[in-house]
Amino acid sequence: DEGLSRDLYQLMEASANYFQQQLRHHPNQQQVNAYVEKRGLSKEIVEQFSIGYAPDGWDNLMRTLGQHADAQEKLLAGGMLIANEQGRRYDRFRDRLMFPIRDRRGRVVAFGGRVLGDGTPKYLNSPETPIFHKGHELYGLYELRQRHRDPQRVMIVEGYMDVVALAQFGIDYAVASLGTSTTSEQFQMLLRSAKEVVCCYDGDNAGKEAAWRAMETALPLMKPGDNVRFMFLAQGEDPDSMVRQIGKAQFEVLIDQALTINELLFNELTKQHGSDKASLAKHGITLIEKIQDEVLQNMMLEELATRVQMNNAEHM
Ligand code: UTP
Ligand code: MN
Ligand code: MN
Ligand code: MN
Ligand code: MN
Repeated sequence: DEGLSRDLYQLMEASANYFQQQLRHHPNQQQVNAYVEKRGLSKEIVEQFSIGYAPDGWDNLMRTLGQHADAQEKLLAGGMLIANEQGRRYDRFRDRLMFPIRDRRGRVVAFGGRVLGDGTPKYLNSPETPIFHKGHELYGLYELRQRHRDPQRVMIVEGYMDVVALAQFGIDYAVASLGTSTTSEQFQMLLRSAKEVVCCYDGDNAGKEAAWRAMETALPLMKPGDNVRFMFLAQGEDPDSMVRQIGKAQFEVLIDQALTINELLFNELTKQHGSDKASLAKHGITLIEKIQDEVLQNMMLEELATRVQMNNAEHM
């Protein structure tokens, strides 16, 4: 209900403030700062994304914000506390670097918390709550819209660190889906935000699969004039590691070289089916049938026909 949601938003904001304050003043500050420095995050970017620190210990947040029974219930409902089988409650996020996730109105609705070293899970995320449905939010979209009212281009990446590092290097139009593949709803939000959407997943097999799934998700939504493109990074790289290696200008060269959705679709089909033009046509049609827009669908079918003929000619 509305009253509960209002209280949840308040507690999430208070939690974000608490974590930011802990990042500045906690006794373990040196170790956290060493990690922040190791990741190359500037003071400004830490500020801009309201990044904080959840201290080690079972009940720091609970003692700070959950003194009253009522508030404690809400911290639980908001996913900030966990209750074990005996009903004991404790902080979900402990000894982690905290990334607040804001909805499009700027309200903190969830957190992603990164372990400072090599522990697991690497990222711990808020569960689904009355104010957080992860398939509906994009990390960094609010921050992006603060900088650009009407962006030309948005980039979709996998991770929090990718969004933050790109922004620090001046590529300040990236957002991340939240640990799952990019949903149809998220794609709709992206296409509403800008005419050009560039997908840039990690340079590994999971990233390649994510790109293919993203293509299948995007096709039904596309209208003529929408420009959805795909970047493929070198093996083992992600946008964070890449931009730090090559800098903004070179990274933007890679963006300019990104494949269009047509190129990805037809390249991949040709790779998979080679000279088998019947199966190329069949699989091409299966994909192109996903396109809802009739004009765009016909254009793609024509391109498919041309490709099948080319393929035919090549093998005569
Ligand atoms: P990555 O493992 O690629 O994260 O997962 P990353 O941002 O490059 O991590 P760093 O650079 O080592 O810090 C991409 C995203 O998948 C989700 C997170 O949203 C992460 O940003 N993820 C990953 C999880 O939710 N849990 C995990 O344990 C790992
Ligand atoms: Mn939902
Ligand atoms: Mn990855
Ligand atoms: Mn990374
Ligand atoms: Mn990554």
